[in-house]
Amino acid sequence: MSEYKIGTKVIHAGQPADSVTGAVIPPISLSTTFLQPSPGVLPGGYDYSRSGNPTRQSFEECIAACENAKYGLAFGSGLATLMTITHMLKSGDEVVSVDDVYGGTRRYFTRIASNFDLKFSFVDMSTLDDLKKAMTDKTKMVWLETPTNPLLKVADIKLVADYVHSRGAFLVVDNTFMSPYFQNPLELGADIVMHSVTKYINGHSDVVMGVLATNNKDFYDKLKFLQYAIGAVPSPFDCFLALRGLKTLHVRMEQHQKNAFAICDFLTKHPKVDRVIYPGLPSHPQHELCKRQMKGFGGMVVFFLKGTIAESNKFLENIKIFALAESLGGVESLIELPSVMTHASVPPEERAKLGISDTLIRISVGIEDVSDLIKDISNALDKL
Ligand SMILES: Cc1ncc(COP(=O)(O)O)c(C=O)c1O
Repeated sequence: MSEYKIGTKVIHAGQPADSVTGAVIPPISLSTTFLQPSPGVLPGGYDYSRSGNPTRQSFEECIAACENAKYGLAFGSGLATLMTITHMLKSGDEVVSVDDVYGGTRRYFTRIASNFDLKFSFVDMSTLDDLKKAMTDKTKMVWLETPTNPLLKVADIKLVADYVHSRGAFLVVDNTFMSPYFQNPLELGADIVMHSVTKYINGHSDVVMGVLATNNKDFYDKLKFLQYAIGAVPSPFDCFLALRGLKTLHVRMEQHQKNAFAICDFLTKHPKVDRVIYPGLPSHPQHELCKRQMKGFGGMVVFFLKGTIAESNKFLENIKIFALAESLGGVESLIELPSVMTHASVPPEERAKLGISDTLIRISVGIEDVSDLIKDISNALDKL
């Protein structure tokens, strides 16, 4: 479907009408095993649902189309995707990751994968300086999130990809925050793009799932084998739900962004707010890069309250429409305190170094009526 725009791909790619019944929405294929008319003969190409499943395949093809990739592979969670990608490495290999990476990614790298003789370092990638120092001849994989979580720092994907390739390594970009609607890292030189489907792709906070896409046949073959051999696959039912959520990605992302701009406008003028970070604001230190490399700015907004953790707690206790909860990317607005919630597993000294203070509030702006969202924030700020 390469000739179509993403708003058409999310609705049609990988989802032809059912060839038996004509059903416009392909049925959920729950069967774990598939009939072989003769030993080893697979009329539909499927034998056992861990190695391949029609509903999963629909989803994988749709995501591949959205990321302008040849191949897609789905997993039981974003972290299962990360784990499977990491299994491409061998003991002795090294990985360099962006420093304010998602807390669970850091936890997997430092507390699990490091037990298998893999070495990890974490550096700022807003310039190449620290990456150049951190990479060695043993570095095989570079892991990038841009914008980062929670500080929304941005790296130049093309610059990083070119350098990583010049050192003989490959680049993975976690594109969860932007979704395929606002950023396509493969087009900028990344080798693999991954998403926590749990977030914007599914968009309704009712599925935990992950996915990756690549144009590299060699990587695809290895990852397809690992998907089958490790078995961290999603259920067909979740693939169906994620495929259904994905159909409105373009509409949702536009509204997330519209609401985010309106909330930023309110917050930047408020006397109890110290600073607002959003890639769409000219005050963002890498706003020009954001405009160049992204197709929009997303729905994640970060701001610093004036005061201490006491103000953060009071503000969050008084918020009503925003759900005080972890995660992001759903139609409903979520709000959280990263130092105590999503990033509690990052050591305090590391949090301090990164700038994740106790007054840093992260919002996943939903698609409710924005005047209600602003009223909610305003009322909670008035209580301080
Ligand atoms: C940027 C990012 N990557 C990966 C993950 C992990 O995804 P999952 O929770 O689906 O395992 C998350 C989860 O919050 C995330 O925010």
